[in-house]
Amino acid sequence: MKLWRLSPSDPQLEEMQIFQDICDALSDGKLVAIPTETVYGLAADATNGKACAGIYEAKGRPSFNPLISHIDSLEAAQTHAFFDDRALKLATEFWPGPLTLVLPKLPTSPVSDLAVAGLETIALRVPRSAVMRALCKRTGLPLAAPSANLSGRISGTTATDVINDLKDHLSYVIDSGATPVGVESTIVSLVSERPTLLRPGGLAREDIEAVLGEPLARAGTDDSAPMAPGMLTSHYAPNSHIRLNADYVTESEALITFGTDLPKGADKAARLVSLSDSMDLTEAAARLFTALRLADLGRNRKIAVMPIPHHGLGEAINDRLARAAAPRE
Ligand code: TXA
Ligand code: MG
Repeated sequence: MKLWRLSPSDPQLEEMQIFQDICDALSDGKLVAIPTETVYGLAADATNGKACAGIYEAKGRPSFNPLISHIDSLEAAQTHAFFDDRALKLATEFWPGPLTLVLPKLPTSPVSDLAVAGLETIALRVPRSAVMRALCKRTGLPLAAPSANLSGRISGTTATDVINDLKDHLSYVIDSGATPVGVESTIVSLVSERPTLLRPGGLAREDIEAVLGEPLARAGTDDSAPMAPGMLTSHYAPNSHIRLNADYVTESEALITFGTDLPKGADKAARLVSLSDSMDLTEAAARLFTALRLADLGRNRKIAVMPIPHHGLGEAINDRLARAAAPRE
């Protein structure tokens, strides 16, 4: 891990060699801790599923919450999501700043399925942090970045917090002192008719409502509002039924494989989709949501899933599979 102490008076940070080195590390799928105005972010290339799996692994997240993709401008954001009038108003008024917008994801966006946890929506934010924006711009990449802390611990607001929690996983830490806002961004969803506050944060509700000209619904308190993040409906649920820990498979089922020691009937399965032939849990996590989509042959069909070990990222993979397999109405 290398530390870059970035002072606000550092002239032309983009001309420094270390800036280019960090761009190269990000393009190469590495993890970098980057300060934003809210909290430090644990950043990686949002288009690289394996890099995003590395984020979950480093945080020790027991489940895959969708991640915020950071970009350097509204123009870049519009290559990932559909902006209606409300979204344009909020973005124009509050970006760069501590506001995250959840919007319908464009099918042409290269952001990985794992970064959005298999959803058809995407969380986007242009941070005030000049270094984060410069990194997005130079690499041309959206950067997925949750708060840089271990899962269940409070968000890192200084480089020391971040190093204590995550040093073994990081290739660089950019230290620009304590983050000025200190709480995470406010998250507003604009995917349904009622604009909805998913998470209060660094931008006050009143300021958002003033620009929108209407009140924000609060997630979970209003029937028309989407459920809070992490709830069942916020994640990709296949049409097919899911059968876990499969030790056989039938002709009408798709099989999601892990390793190459396939169960009985695999030669006749309707479709085979591999999570990882080499039994690499990071690779399996990166492919999980795409695999569920590929294996989804429709209603009245089944997806059989081979057993996945429960250690490391296996816990998060099994959490997602159990949710996808849970009975629904
Ligand atoms: O201030 C911040 O927002 C910081 C800095 C680094 O930007 N980031 C941050 O990320 O707090 P994280 O991963 O700790 O929180 C992201 C939240 C999660 O609660 C997640 O469920 C929600 O955003 N989220 C992401 N994508 C979503 C989506 N498509 N729909 C609903 N919620 C989403
Ligand atoms: Mg967090």
